[in-house]
Amino acid sequence: MAEGGASKRMWGGRFEGSPGRALQEYTSSLPVDSRLYKQDIAGSIAHVHMLGAQKIIPAADAQALSKGLNTVRKEIDTGAFRFLPSDEDIHSAVERRLHELLGPEVAGKLHTARSRNDQVALDLRLYAREAIGDIGRAICRLQSVLLNLAQSHQATLLPAYTHLQRAQPTTLAHHLLAYVAMLQRDFDRVQDAYDRADIMPLGAGAVTATSLPIKREMVAAELGFGAISQNSMDAVSDRDFVVEIEAALALVMVHLSRLAEEIVLWATSEFDFVELPDEYATGSSLMPQKKNPDVAELVRGRTGGVFGALQAMLTTLKGLPLSYNRDLQEDKEGFFRAVDTALQSLDIMARMLSRVRFEVASMERAASDPALLATELAEYLVRKDVPFREAHEVVGRAVKRAASKKLAISSLTGEQWRSLHPAFGDDVEKLFDAHQAVTRREVPGSPGPRAIKRALLRGVLAVKRNQEWLKENTTA
Ligand code: ARG
Repeated sequence: MAEGGASKRMWGGRFEGSPGRALQEYTSSLPVDSRLYKQDIAGSIAHVHMLGAQKIIPAADAQALSKGLNTVRKEIDTGAFRFLPSDEDIHSAVERRLHELLGPEVAGKLHTARSRNDQVALDLRLYAREAIGDIGRAICRLQSVLLNLAQSHQATLLPAYTHLQRAQPTTLAHHLLAYVAMLQRDFDRVQDAYDRADIMPLGAGAVTATSLPIKREMVAAELGFGAISQNSMDAVSDRDFVVEIEAALALVMVHLSRLAEEIVLWATSEFDFVELPDEYATGSSLMPQKKNPDVAELVRGRTGGVFGALQAMLTTLKGLPLSYNRDLQEDKEGFFRAVDTALQSLDIMARMLSRVRFEVASMERAASDPALLATELAEYLVRKDVPFREAHEVVGRAVKRAASKKLAISSLTGEQWRSLHPAFGDDVEKLFDAHQAVTRREVPGSPGPRAIKRALLRGVLAVKRNQEWLKENTTA
């Protein structure tokens, strides 16, 4: 049979002519879905085991098929496998090779009670479960790096910013722990998405299942699925699990991009809060003095690609009548891109951060600006029973008075303070200590030393719980 001949295709029987080259190229998904070969073959093996056990095909054929499928997997593993231009997708490529190895008598039985519609849904769900495991582990690694840094910087002061204006002193630990919290929500989201990905769709057939006595639970058990799909029409057309994972990854990238932006800012001479490790910075071909934060910039820059995958998947789904439509083939490219980008970005951020040097002296210098302690002065008055609004007004006047003389607010004398409000005592000077200001903040969620100790412990325990869940539900 000539290559590309109609009867060589899985659906060739109804056709007389061969598909044109242009159609072949336009419709093929092989360049994208060939990376699903392991999942595809694992799914097929579970399927033939069940066909054999249910006596839908003879046991000897089932055995030959699973042996043949293992051979095909090894061929692809080692690069010995030859993909042909007529292979439409990974499913047809594997089956075509099986025909070459086993002959049509046996190989022709693989696709019994199955369609590529439920087959591709199965492959993608197997991939999704693995992706959740990989992403979860990468999140934990970055959380651990951040927790270690926070551990060592519990007393390192820097300004906390609002509107990118210096607001109040905080600690670097507190700042980094904010990212640990974001990443924990990211972990919770992918973990939550797992249950809805963990549903076995095979047996849905093309759209209304099959009249043959298949046993879907058996396939689900062999592949370790938590449940089987409940409606065959939904099973072949549902890609909600892709949307959910992509949405979770979009937020992962939002968080990484914000962290990346801080690194870009902090590495400027204007901030001078971090020194990037040489292995994670690049130079300029023109300006010899430059050390550029390219890794952080690329994390920020690749974020849009992940948002795009989510948008594209939603758009693909929104107009589809039930059930499978070829449009769904477009689910994979964006999904793989989103997973790859998020994984690589989590990984490189963890590596870079573990090697970054914080310029503690610069941070503390910025944090020791007395203007950052204006709130302390107001709260001092509140402790002396002055209403907060009045206290705020009084301190505002003090700030103005100091500024008009181009002085720091800390240089006002005891007398001047008392003239602003009689409640000010001699101890007001003691307020101009950023360390003390941070130490006084001990309500839950704040940067005080005891609150931070608790937050560190909570973070470590959360990562431990994450890791336990990953161990129980996913394979590394
Ligand atoms: N390559 C296809 C996809 O990714 C496989 C399913 C094809 N089904 C079909 N009826 N043509 O969606």
